[in-house]
Amino acid sequence: MAELIVALDVQTRAEAIEKVEAIGDGVGFYKVGMELFTAEGPDVVRALKDLGKKVFLDLKFHDIPRTVERAVRSGGKLGADLITIHSTGAKEMIRMARLAADEFGSDGPRILAVTVLTSLDQSDLADVGVAGRTPAEQVQAMARFAIDNGAHGVVCSPREVGSLSRALPFGTLFVTPGVRPAGAETGDQKRVATPADAVRDGATHLVVGRPILAAGDPPEAARRILAEMASV
Ligand code: C5P
Repeated sequence: MAELIVALDVQTRAEAIEKVEAIGDGVGFYKVGMELFTAEGPDVVRALKDLGKKVFLDLKFHDIPRTVERAVRSGGKLGADLITIHSTGAKEMIRMARLAADEFGSDGPRILAVTVLTSLDQSDLADVGVAGRTPAEQVQAMARFAIDNGAHGVVCSPREVGSLSRALPFGTLFVTPGVRPAGAETGDQKRVATPADAVRDGATHLVVGRPILAAGDPPEAARRILAEMASV
């Protein structure tokens, strides 16, 4: 059964907690990204854990292996349930991230790899030295590389999740943003899928921000998405 993660793309801890309380018991998983974490620090994660929520700490670590290992350990101590790293940090960095996560046992964080940022096109890839592969080919190659080196899963667009879930081992996590219920505003998301499509294609976690946070009735918006996910 896929899980819904609400992206807390707000600037203050007070606003974050207000949103979480407004959404209520229906949603048990929240994403804290760079914007909120840089503003409010680890206290926001502690506050979510105190409310009994799971936390996706989306800080996209990319550094030398020792630093990433220690950052993942810090995230594990905070109680983060999912932590992102960049697959381009290479083998040793991914392995060290996984080893640090494993120190926490079965309740520890799961490591998610970012393959290619969806904001990059072919010419951007060429600029950073990736030549001879399309973005789609690079996504496939980096996802395989990350999983082979210990990542538990990947962050991927709804467009990629079908082919990745067919190619990667059973049990791999597929965390998919860019999800929009039918008829919803797409905002700046260009490649969107409905919650049901994403789950049907193999997503294990859907990340949804504005369609819930900006809805007139956030708990109802979340309930509808959960119902659509459950219908698959
Ligand atoms: O508001 P919305 O539903 O578009 O929020 C999606 C969340 O997922 C945001 O936090 C965004 O940064 C994140 N994300 C994304 N696309 C990616 C990677 C992450 O939308 N390729």
